[in-house]
Amino acid sequence: MKKIEPAKKIVGEITLPGDKSISHRAIMLGAIANGSTRARRVLDCDDCNYTIHAFRDMGVSIQRDGDYTIIEGRGLRGLKRPKSAINVGNSGTSMRLLSGILAGQDFEVTICGDKSLQKRPMDRIVRPLSLMGVRITAAEGGYPPIKIKGGHVKSVNYKMPVPSAQVKSAVLFAGLYADGVTTLEESFKSRDHTERMLKYFGSNLKVEGLKIQVEGGKELEAKTIEIPADISSASFFMAGAILLKGSRVRIRDVSINPTRAGILDVLTRMGAKLKVTNRRDLFEPLGDIEIDSGETKGIVIDEGMIPGVIDELPIIFVLASLSSGRTVIKAAEELKIKETDRIKSMEENLKAMGAKIETKEGCIIIDGVRELKGVRLKSFGDHRTCMAMTIAALTSERPSSIDDTECVNKSFPEFFKVLESLTA
Ligand code: S3P
Repeated sequence: MKKIEPAKKIVGEITLPGDKSISHRAIMLGAIANGSTRARRVLDCDDCNYTIHAFRDMGVSIQRDGDYTIIEGRGLRGLKRPKSAINVGNSGTSMRLLSGILAGQDFEVTICGDKSLQKRPMDRIVRPLSLMGVRITAAEGGYPPIKIKGGHVKSVNYKMPVPSAQVKSAVLFAGLYADGVTTLEESFKSRDHTERMLKYFGSNLKVEGLKIQVEGGKELEAKTIEIPADISSASFFMAGAILLKGSRVRIRDVSINPTRAGILDVLTRMGAKLKVTNRRDLFEPLGDIEIDSGETKGIVIDEGMIPGVIDELPIIFVLASLSSGRTVIKAAEELKIKETDRIKSMEENLKAMGAKIETKEGCIIIDGVRELKGVRLKSFGDHRTCMAMTIAALTSERPSSIDDTECVNKSFPEFFKVLESLTA
């Protein structure tokens, strides 16, 4: 149980660890490229370390060298059969993306994970990969562990039933091995880190609006990669700065990829005082985010905006609870199948603090209140619930406590340390 003291304000300039989604992809594409990939600022967290271990188990040399991670690629089909099942712990991204790569390897392997991962749906990748001729099965109900026997892959035309960058990436990775052009269509644009990185590594990939095509059979070339800081991690401090009067925070080198940084639009529409400076474009755009405290107002977040803020919704719930007026969030069902049911975890915690939040006809409706009470909070073992509720707890008059805070190690082990540096 960790005690969270109220904070007067947060002030300072910070650089945060690398983006989790981009880090996973850098390790994966580095491992199947030809040559030595040097990736700067690969996130050192539980999830990305599971991906690193998985590839080491398949014969890839991956070493940390200061700020850099050096990945010795083995070519598209050069992975070795691991001695035992690949364990990806709590990482859904590792399991889903890795499946796409294993589709093209000529061996059979099982990927398993922890108790929480065992409740997350894998049929969403089993279906398209089966259509591509991959022998892949999940346990009963479509849950992990999954068993894959890769080798021959057929190209497909696949229309995505739900917007999911993980499913999209699994299909595109499998498409690298297919005998022709794989075409994929999204209903709404999800984060495009895979598309950008595949192009950067030299694959034949074309994007036309919501349609993506990748041609199989082309080897990838190793690259030097600069990974921007994670905007999902940054969002907690952005919200903290907005909510605590007199705050001013500057966060350097943050990913501002438009398919990912929906939080910037949401905060701007809510009336937050925020500025992006020092914009640069490597293969992923980045910039510095400056944010001051100020009043915010409720807004409507439509279905099309959800993929761009999917991981930021918990902290948006907190901000909406302390904004004037009503916030309506539409079609956020995907939140129910994250590390925990995040609608339930956030609703339960925020209600305990006195927030007005309810779910009605698939919409989440939040009416702003003047303050939140200090209470006992529960992380539900979910990193983003834990960090969002910690920020909520800073705003109360009395201290709160929160259980099981080690779950932040999943994506952001330094969270509490960075927070302390800003409140000091
Ligand atoms: C991710 C995609 C999203 C996101 C997750 C990381 C990725 O999941 O919530 O944290 O790296 O592709 P879905 O694909 O399930 O939407």
